[in-house]
Amino acid sequence: MVRIAYTLIAWITLALATAGPATAQVTPQAQVKMMGRGVNILGYDPIWRDPAQARFRLEHLARIKKAGFDTVRVNLHAFEHMDAKNRIEPAWLALLDRVVFAALAQKLTIILDEHNFSTCGEKADACKPRLMAFWRQISRHYKDADDGVVFEILNEPNGQLSAAVWNRWLVEALAIIRQTNPTRNVVIGPVFWNNIDYLNALDLPKADRHIIATVHYYLPMEFTHQGAPWFSGGSRTGVTWGTPAERSSMKKDFALVQRWAKAHDRPILLGEFGAYDKSDMASRVAYTAAAAREAEALGWAWTYWQFDGDFIVFDMKTDNWVKPIHDALVPGN
Ligand code: BGC
Repeated sequence: MVRIAYTLIAWITLALATAGPATAQVTPQAQVKMMGRGVNILGYDPIWRDPAQARFRLEHLARIKKAGFDTVRVNLHAFEHMDAKNRIEPAWLALLDRVVFAALAQKLTIILDEHNFSTCGEKADACKPRLMAFWRQISRHYKDADDGVVFEILNEPNGQLSAAVWNRWLVEALAIIRQTNPTRNVVIGPVFWNNIDYLNALDLPKADRHIIATVHYYLPMEFTHQGAPWFSGGSRTGVTWGTPAERSSMKKDFALVQRWAKAHDRPILLGEFGAYDKSDMASRVAYTAAAAREAEALGWAWTYWQFDGDFIVFDMKTDNWVKPIHDALVPGN
């Protein structure tokens, strides 16, 4: 019964979300311009297992918009919600519909980012059929959705996903998506966790002009991931950031990405950046503001890592923005 109700609500919300003029063809350059400033959401929220346990509420989308953001990148651990035949759970998809509809209603661009990157890096054979089945179903489901819905094939390909493997997979995934979404913009990044140094190994199909290239930037890791239990070099804390040399190193790194973007005529989304909460606030603010402003100066869109959980820009406990980080991202809002 609950499932039927969910499905019905999802159907209605999706119908409303996709009502209106047929989708126009948005160039990836125009899409990136509209994306502007954004934030990663919902990646590690219990909402997906049990909506009653949700930290994130749909009202947060209005607060995100009001706080000066134009985009949300939704980090989807979808594999946990697919059955043995790789069918997506209807209740999970219904919840996703509600998020998509609520984001579009706020005039936010919404990036659907498949985020099972650890599974895919460790067990590529097991990942591949799931990932392709995910995109077959999601593409079909959102084929008439507003242009504000953007797909991202896989967050941070790594491990067993060498450049050679990933370059083959992305062509296959794109072919699946293009069957139903010939001109929807799709976000794709290089291997080694979307590392800037691997852009040159990324082989995007030249004929497909609806691709946005993405990179993640956390350099130097010793600063951004200090105290992070999942980073092997994270045990040393007290690492600061902001010297002229550090700033110029960031600019040089971004310039390298920009050269690649110009050479390949692909616009850029800086899909993740930020510094873990264990760093000192002054350094986090300096780093966050420097990365955001430099990305903007180069004409990129960006989505900060992340809304809540860790690297937080929003404190669920006080139900308010972490002001210094928010100010660093969106000055004067
Ligand atoms: C991962 C997070 C991690 C972040 C920074 C993201 O792609 O999903 O688990 O906290 O990168 O390391």
